[in-house]
Amino acid sequence: MIRDQLGRELYDLRISITDRCNFRCFFCMPDGHEYQFFPREELLTFEEIERFVKALVPLGVRKVRLTGGEPLLRKNIEKLVELLSNIEGVEDISLTTNGFLLQKRAKSLKEAGLKRITVSLHSLRDDVLSELVGREVKVWDIIRGIERALEVGMNPVKVNVCVIRGVNSDEVVDIAKFFKSLGVVVRFIEFMDVGNLNQWSLEKVFPAKDMLELLSRHFELEPIEKSYRGEVAERYKYRDDRLEVGFISSITQPFCGDCTRLRLTADGKLLMCLFASEGYDVRALIRSGADERAIGDFVKSLWLKRKDRYSEERLQLLRMGIPLRKVEMFKVGG
Ligand code: GTP
Ligand code: 5AD
Ligand code: SF4
Ligand code: SF4
Repeated sequence: MIRDQLGRELYDLRISITDRCNFRCFFCMPDGHEYQFFPREELLTFEEIERFVKALVPLGVRKVRLTGGEPLLRKNIEKLVELLSNIEGVEDISLTTNGFLLQKRAKSLKEAGLKRITVSLHSLRDDVLSELVGREVKVWDIIRGIERALEVGMNPVKVNVCVIRGVNSDEVVDIAKFFKSLGVVVRFIEFMDVGNLNQWSLEKVFPAKDMLELLSRHFELEPIEKSYRGEVAERYKYRDDRLEVGFISSITQPFCGDCTRLRLTADGKLLMCLFASEGYDVRALIRSGADERAIGDFVKSLWLKRKDRYSEERLQLLRMGIPLRKVEMFKVGG
């Protein structure tokens, strides 16, 4: 076990496997910009990712999440899921997807060893969703993917909802109600100032406490303890069916004090924070033929120096008008 400068352990690894996406969500990758994607040879191969994860287990990593861009766009990620689920010490693998390709892939992902999944879906209205994701999409196409994930036995299936004031904040109760009836766990996420392109402003943030208040008018909820140190969601249970619902309040109640997450970009850069402005190249080391021990030592040396806590510093930085260049969300994967 290793601890950073603020006493935080390394526990959770988030791996982005592609920076490409078939959506253009306005809060992540707004349409109308020219995006440069990593050329294929710059992407870590599945074997390189496997070696990297193996090297991090001795440092404390137990949880792995695959992200993108849209991870299902990377060819044959079932193979990667299989490789990672066979690593001793990795207790949990999950994946965050926009759900567009899920209906076709849920079964093969489950067979490869993926036990649970998170789908991003921000509205139950076709017009609002299409506006948000920058593509003509039908809500039901995504819901069919979610239903398929349930059908093949993924458990839990979670839905991430990024809530933006005046856009989808009036849907919080409907979304909760709908997914409650399906047995799907919803996470409502405050709109965050990730990246540099999304025209974020504090006025567009709908605070988690207001979401909770809205839900409390319709459902009986009771708070539940975190299931592991560093869990980002504040969790509640519906009293009637014991199903969970959660809020991720990075803006109004930052949780950096418990942040045990390390992020790896698709081209092999390590990010110490979701809001980091630069990454540390680990691909060169992996490609130089370094063994797991040497890779582990490198990551350890970075983790020991880590003192990032952007969400806790954000308001002060904004107040002082300090412009920051941040990594884009689709390169980090959330
Ligand atoms: P579980 O493993 O299911 O508990 O999920 P998780 O806590 O890893 O949550 P998930 O990956 O679904 O995260 C949900 C969203 O919360 C992410 O997509 C981000 O938008 C946000 N989030 C996750 N980790 C962090 C973090 O370290 N900092 C901030 N500011 N936001 C985060
Ligand atoms: N604020 C909050 N959530 C966001 N996501 C992407 N961009 C933002 C943002 N600016 C969500 C995605 C996905 C997860 C990776 O984070 O929709 O669910
Ligand atoms: Fe794609 Fe997810 Fe970003 Fe939307 S939030 S553009 S689905 S990577
Ligand atoms: Fe961790 Fe950075 Fe998010 Fe704080 S802002 S919780 S340090 S990733």
